[in-house]
Amino acid sequence: MTQVDPRLLRNAFGSFMTGVTVVTAVRADGAPVGFTANSFSSVSLDPPLLLVCPGKFLSSYETFANCTNFAVNVLSEGQEGISNIFASSKDDRFAQVPHHLDAHGVPLITGAAVQFSCTTNRIVPAGDHCILIGQVDAFSHADAAGLGYVNGHYFSLGLERAPFVEKSGPAVCGAIVESGDSVLMVVTKDGLRPPHCTHTDRGRLINDLRDTLIAKGIDADLGQAYSVFESVAPRAHNTYFLATGHIKTTNSGIVAVPIADLAQQSFASAPIARMMSRFALEQQTRTFGLYLGDTEEGATHHSTLRT
Ligand SMILES: Cc1cc2nc3c(=O)[nH]c(=O)nc-3n(C[C@H](O)[C@H](O)[C@H](O)COP(=O)(O)O)c2cc1C
Repeated sequence: MTQVDPRLLRNAFGSFMTGVTVVTAVRADGAPVGFTANSFSSVSLDPPLLLVCPGKFLSSYETFANCTNFAVNVLSEGQEGISNIFASSKDDRFAQVPHHLDAHGVPLITGAAVQFSCTTNRIVPAGDHCILIGQVDAFSHADAAGLGYVNGHYFSLGLERAPFVEKSGPAVCGAIVESGDSVLMVVTKDGLRPPHCTHTDRGRLINDLRDTLIAKGIDADLGQAYSVFESVAPRAHNTYFLATGHIKTTNSGIVAVPIADLAQQSFASAPIARMMSRFALEQQTRTFGLYLGDTEEGATHHSTLRT
C-alpha cells in the first residue's frame, strides 16, 4: 500500500468547500460541550438522518461517542467568531455565545442558519474519528446565508456575490493598485482617485477595468473586492478591487503615491478618502476587509484566516 502524507492529505481534504457547524451535547455532569465541525452531511430523508465526525482528539470526545442526544448548528454568515470559539477557546465557550436549550436540554446557537436537534441513531468507529449519525427530531431553518469554509478560509456566498448583484444606474469599477510601497492613483482636478471605469453593462465590468488599467499603462493583477457601495452624487454602484502592479508607461496621468503619505493627500470624494484611509491602515497588518454599504452607512467584513 502506498504511503499517504497526512499533511498533504489534510490540505487535499481542505479543498472541499463546506459549511461550518457547531455540534453540541451535554456531558454526564450536566455541563454543555461543543466543537466546530465541517464534517457534517445530510444522510437520509426517511428516516431523517444526518452525520458528523467527532475526532478522538476532542476534549469532549467521550461525551459525543456516548451521547443519546446532540444538536448540529449550521453557522450563518458573520458567525466566524463563534466558529473560532468552538474550535479553540479554552474558556467557557457557552458563556461567550448566545444560546438556548432544545427539548433534550442540548444548546442551540442563536442566529445559526439551521439548528438540528437529534437523537443518536448509530455511532460508527472510523479511524481517528467516529461517525455520529443522528435522527432529526426537530429543526429550525432561518432565512440566513450560511458561512462557508475552504482551504482554511471562511467565505460567505452573500458577500462574495454582493459585488456582482444587479442594481440600477451606472456602475463604477476601480482598483487600488499597490506598487511596492506606493499606490497608483489618477490625478484629477478634484483630487486623487484610484483608476476606474464607468459602465452600464455590468457583465463587462471587470474586463473593462482590466482594459482601463492597460490603457493607463498599468500592468496589474486584480485581487479581492475591497469596497462595494452606493453613491448618490454621482448616483452609482461602486466596486473597488485590490490589485498589485506597476506602471509600464510614463506620462499616463498616473502617480505613485507612497502609502505612508496617503493621509496627507486630497482625494476626489469623501468616500474615496475614507476607503483610502482604511486601506492605509489595513495595509500595515495586511488584514483587508470588504466594505459593503452606501456612502453614509456600511460595515467592513473581515474573514479570518485559519491555518
Ligand atoms: C472549520 C473547522 C472545522 C472542523 N471540523 C471538525 C470536525 O469535523 N471534527 C472534529 O473532530 N474537529 C473539527 N474541527 C476541530 C475542532 O473544532 C477543534 O479541534 C475542537 O473544537 C477543539 O475542542 P477541544 O479544545 O474541546 O478539544 C474543526 C475546526 C474548524 C475550524
